[in-house]
Amino acid sequence: MVNVIIFGPPGSGKGTQSEKLIEKYNFDHISTGDILRAEIKAETDLGKKASQFINNGELVPDNIIIEMLEKKLNTLNNSKGVIFDGFPRTTDQAAALKEMLKKHNEKIDIMLNLEVENQELIDRLLKRGETSGRSDDNLETIKKRISVYESQTSPVIDFYKNEGCYRGIKGVGSIDDIFSRISEAIDKCQN
Ligand code: C5P
Ligand code: MG
Repeated sequence: MVNVIIFGPPGSGKGTQSEKLIEKYNFDHISTGDILRAEIKAETDLGKKASQFINNGELVPDNIIIEMLEKKLNTLNNSKGVIFDGFPRTTDQAAALKEMLKKHNEKIDIMLNLEVENQELIDRLLKRGETSGRSDDNLETIKKRISVYESQTSPVIDFYKNEGCYRGIKGVGSIDDIFSRISEAIDKCQN
């Protein structure tokens, strides 16, 4: 089983590249952002708690996210691999993920960090906001999400550098070129 984290700031292409990875490798995909948005749509208690954080561009507290992730992970069986998209967002989430996987004799094999400049992120997310219908794809919230990424999420990079499975990926250029870089990194780590 191959466990892949697709990491990067908001707008770096995690969701787009995940879709291509699912198609090529038949991996399972866990997008914590997608799960939260589905909970909000279904007006569950979790959704109600999460929506204020998401609308403000802030992170949902670790305990809520970790419990949600573990539940989702436990629904998978006979998985060829898992793509973690949008998780972990903090070093505490990364440490919790390590413990969860350890229980199943698993570990993160590769952490792919999509590297994109801030102005490009803002341009992409504003463009996405024209059609996404997402409450957080507006300029004010985008700026907040980037600053939350820098202060709370970017330390996750060092966590995985220490684990020895970190890979920086140039996240600009055509979608297919970026995907080639990602595939090459995954193929190398599978062998
Ligand atoms: O991953 P994505 O960009 O779809 O996440 C959208 C929002 O969901 C984040 O800005 C944040 O408010 C919330 N989120 C979170 N913790 C996660 C994943 C998403 O708080 N692990
Ligand atoms: Mg996404």
